[in-house]
Amino acid sequence: MDAHVTYADLSELQDEFIELETADERIQFLIELGQTLPAFPDKFCTEEFRVVGCQSMVWIVPKWDGEQFHFQASSDAPMVRGLVALLLSIYSGKEPEVISAFPIESFLEKLHLKSFLSPLRSNGLHSMIRQIRQYAESKQLASDPHFSPKRDLQLDRAQDLGPLHLRIEAIRADFPIFKVHNKSGLPIAYLDNAASSQRPRCVIDSISDVFSGHYANVHRSGHEWAVATTEKLEASREAVRRFIHASKCEEIIFTAGATASINLIAFAWGDVNLTSGDEILISEMEHHSNIVPWQQLCQRKGCTIRWVPLRADYTLDFERFESMLSNKTKLVAITAVSNVLGTINPVKQIVAAAHSFGATVVVDAAQATPHGSIDVREWDADFVVFSGHKMLASSGVGVCYGKRSLLESMPPWQGGGSMIKSVTFDGFSAAGLPHKFEAGTPPIAEIISMKPAIEYLEAIGHDRLMEHERLLVGQAMVGLAKLERVQMYSPNLENKCGVISFSVEGIHGEEIARVLDSRGIAIRVGHHCAMPLHSRLGVSVTCRASFYFYNTTDEVSRFVESVGYAIRLLSR
Ligand SMILES: Cc1ncc(COP(=O)(O)O)c(C=O)c1O
Repeated sequence: MDAHVTYADLSELQDEFIELETADERIQFLIELGQTLPAFPDKFCTEEFRVVGCQSMVWIVPKWDGEQFHFQASSDAPMVRGLVALLLSIYSGKEPEVISAFPIESFLEKLHLKSFLSPLRSNGLHSMIRQIRQYAESKQLASDPHFSPKRDLQLDRAQDLGPLHLRIEAIRADFPIFKVHNKSGLPIAYLDNAASSQRPRCVIDSISDVFSGHYANVHRSGHEWAVATTEKLEASREAVRRFIHASKCEEIIFTAGATASINLIAFAWGDVNLTSGDEILISEMEHHSNIVPWQQLCQRKGCTIRWVPLRADYTLDFERFESMLSNKTKLVAITAVSNVLGTINPVKQIVAAAHSFGATVVVDAAQATPHGSIDVREWDADFVVFSGHKMLASSGVGVCYGKRSLLESMPPWQGGGSMIKSVTFDGFSAAGLPHKFEAGTPPIAEIISMKPAIEYLEAIGHDRLMEHERLLVGQAMVGLAKLERVQMYSPNLENKCGVISFSVEGIHGEEIARVLDSRGIAIRVGHHCAMPLHSRLGVSVTCRASFYFYNTTDEVSRFVESVGYAIRLLSR
């Protein structure tokens, strides 16, 4: 036995084991097998890679290549090294699914090694297998960049992930912030996700990788770091393209966020295409980001905003919308999902109706993309905007998708470096798409963080994410409905995502939120940048709990119980 045994040899190895008759022979064989292990670098003999639960020292170093795990491992005990070699033959070079599905117990039984598997045995075989399986399941690997995974969790195992609430602890383990408690030592139930989400380890790592691995400015220099950074930034653009089903990367403009994207459209498209007498249709449930830039445009161009009302059930009044469309309608700007009500709007139908009058449509998808992939081509939307920070990526980055023909017809908005083809003493000529709209140094690390964020969301999957959010928001709504004086502003569950806004008669929302905060429950109180909507609802502020795929039913119980407590406390 002189070469390291690989998986291809596994059946041969099994046959050899089966031939062995006594325990002594098996131990001798394991020792020989251990001698075939390749040299193990000293730098990995650290606590970080040590397998807890083995009496001897065992180290396992995972390397994730994007599809498969490759393990290096060793032990300071000769026989245990044999077990390590056996495990590498089984697990190294395998996809996470294969690792998890391998019938290890029956395999060891055939080898007469099953008794080694007991958690009580000091050889630690049980712990090693558990460790390898955890790597496969969580993909939370070591921080050494050489061995760093690009994604956390079992997230390319979309098929067998199952309902999220069954794996919620594994998911939460990907988010370092959830280990942080509040000043009183209470775990924080973060229910302010519509304002901004938290970040998984893979996103945090992607940002630190930029600065500790290869940082340089992008689209400029040709040296190694500049090329590496530019390639990563462009890989993020491709990830965004795939995530929103755009046809081409040229249609993906990186901005500072949804707000910046809408302003870009208002100036670069609006100023050129709208004129006095034209109408802009927006709904009563819009965020200020999808109101004020149009109001400013109206001030500049003399056009008019018309408000599409809500129905009594907090959904968009589609019939009224249709009846408001006319040849004067030049622009429809609509949110895909309301940040206050959670209402999911029928974007495809809205776009089709608007297009039948020749209107251009801007879709504010800031609250839609956190729930997974969208399809801009199915929507047939002209422009779609969203922000990274609400969908697991960094703050400071957003996207403005535009149909290529529209973007090409628009003049650049902001001027500066990167957005030009050439500059002379007399003027400039603009660069092609998408750079024409990306003046200056972009938020490099922030953009790069979009790719792991998207991969994480894709692996969770839209349907499973929505199912979980509805489980939580449904539980919250049932709980709140039992409390006196609570008024909820919400459509039915099937028309919404995991947001619930409410007020309590006679008690200011600020006081409710303060009591909840003291109990480690983070919600938002205010107008949520939707003052027109609040005036339509007849309240100045609401309390808003917004749930995400990493929230738990326990957190919802704490939330509901604490609202009840706050009401009792503040009613005295
Ligand atoms: C529906 C909606 N649109 C736009 C925005 C603005 O996003 P940003 O502040 O990231 O530009 C938000 C943020 O809360 C939002 O909820």
